[in-house]
Amino acid sequence: MCGIVGFIGEQDAKEILLKGLEKLEYRGYDSAGIAVQAANGVVVFKEKGRIAKLREIVDENVAANVGIGHTRWATHGVPSQVNAHPHRSTTERFTLVHNGVIENYELLKNEYLQDVNFVSETDTEVIVQLVEKQVKIGLTVEEAFRKTLTLLHGSYALALLDADNPDMIYVAKNKSPLLVGTGDNFNVVASDAMAMLQVTDQFIELMDKEMVLVTKEKITIQNLQGETIDRAPFTAELDASDIEKGTYPHFMLKEIDEQPLVIRNIIQKYQNEDGEIELDAEIRNAILESDRVYIIACGTSYHAGLVGKQFMERFAKVPVEVHVASEFSYNMPLLTEKPFFIYISQSGETADSRAVLVQTNEMGYKALTITNVPGSTLSREANYTLPLHAGPEIAVASTKAYTAQLAVLAILAADIAKAKGLAIGFDLIKELGLVANAMEVLCNQKEEMDAIAKEYLATTRNCFFIGRSVDFYVGLEGALKLKEISYIQAEGFAGGELKHGTIALIEQGTPVIAIATQEHVNLGIRGNVKEVAARGANPCIIAMKGLEMEGDRFIVPAVHEALAPLAVIIPLQLISYYAALHRECDVDKPRNLAKSVTVE
Ligand code: F6R
Repeated sequence: MCGIVGFIGEQDAKEILLKGLEKLEYRGYDSAGIAVQAANGVVVFKEKGRIAKLREIVDENVAANVGIGHTRWATHGVPSQVNAHPHRSTTERFTLVHNGVIENYELLKNEYLQDVNFVSETDTEVIVQLVEKQVKIGLTVEEAFRKTLTLLHGSYALALLDADNPDMIYVAKNKSPLLVGTGDNFNVVASDAMAMLQVTDQFIELMDKEMVLVTKEKITIQNLQGETIDRAPFTAELDASDIEKGTYPHFMLKEIDEQPLVIRNIIQKYQNEDGEIELDAEIRNAILESDRVYIIACGTSYHAGLVGKQFMERFAKVPVEVHVASEFSYNMPLLTEKPFFIYISQSGETADSRAVLVQTNEMGYKALTITNVPGSTLSREANYTLPLHAGPEIAVASTKAYTAQLAVLAILAADIAKAKGLAIGFDLIKELGLVANAMEVLCNQKEEMDAIAKEYLATTRNCFFIGRSVDFYVGLEGALKLKEISYIQAEGFAGGELKHGTIALIEQGTPVIAIATQEHVNLGIRGNVKEVAARGANPCIIAMKGLEMEGDRFIVPAVHEALAPLAVIIPLQLISYYAALHRECDVDKPRNLAKSVTVE
């Protein structure tokens, strides 16, 4: 949530900052701004809305080689020009961008800043005013910045400009992601390497409670005691073309289409030379030594966890509980004696999941992170990582990361099963290959998906997804996709559950999307369809080949039943995509959301 960038060097900072912000727009897009060190002091441009609007107001004639920028996902204060970052201190000497939440900002206001006139509703303004306050009472800027950091409770990634010292950007991080990047006679700051790939692929990770002094020649990392820390840069292995839409109208459509490739990539990455699944033996042993696996995740990753539980329990006979991270952190169930934790997170930065990981680390339990971003906070802080190898996912609605999570979870479960001498009853590698083929067929049926979206969802107020067994979990994900990008009230239910209350909402024409990929519950789900149809619903049955019946609306090519969620989610993703288009919604940047949820 929120993205920050900074540049200090000899090139035109404005353009580099704006391009960087465009790459970070997935993190928040309520408002945006940049501040640059110009000849006559720091100049700020900020605007409500997207980066495109910010571009319109940036004065081309202002020359600057140093600056900071921000794209906002509002937490404190409505999205507005005033609440947009950068924020300035009263004398305008200091200018700051911030990602995160300062929990004690009201206290700090009352204790240190009673005499200050605040112009915005943000917690950020408190930070920049505190720096100025400390300088006024005699501290150097470096000391004032450090002192301010020690007063803050909460999460922050910060970049600060001092109008009196145009050759430095002051940077700090705690709990919110932040990197510094290095180049020849320039240095950069970014929430995500993607933002600055335009100028460098060399980045240095920052740890919590570190402060960094960035000049164009030098990066000095310090802890809050002022001690210098040496850390070598790493090469960001990102392909710049992966973060472009190419000929696609939306990232979401591109990412849906990439799924067959991602599954093939995963098959390759997790095979040994004999063509057999093989994972890090340490991960396997840690799971084998545990008496229960706890999967912790949010949103789409949580839905992947539900399917993952089925894999682990059915293939490997390992008992699994799946929990929503935001609840688990303060409502922890009674744990077994030897729990093992699996964190599933596309971004690896989700604050709710990280809050639980911090707790379970403190409790001394081992953890594995399954993520698309090795090197992310959750990856660094867990004992083990299994990467998704899905390539950057830019659209806010997660698609290819979900199917990659399912594939990696299936592989993990099969690996554990093998170690336990359990036969899973089929060749997973071969069947995943067939899933990739089926995905390709499905991705080529876009016109049909568009027609379904138009017929059922173009004007409806709500929509229900029903399924039994693992199809119920897929229904939850289908409903989440639809609601987040089309704003249709969409909910997923276990087929048998609707009649325990929700069926009261069925009206003439209410769309009910029923998923039928599991033979043992095929008749059951069809009975549920009859119940809703008898009350006026407009059912849309999506069945797997071999289980189809008269009246089914769409047939998914047959894949192994256990892996059906990987295939049947594709039509649901595409239907959501087209429903959003028919309703003229912003597919890649739905309202109120952000890709990387870095606040709890
Ligand atoms: C929905 C979506 C979110 C994320 C959730 C967790 O399409 O993307 O529900 O799945 O915010 O994010 P990660 O997986 O990055 O931890």
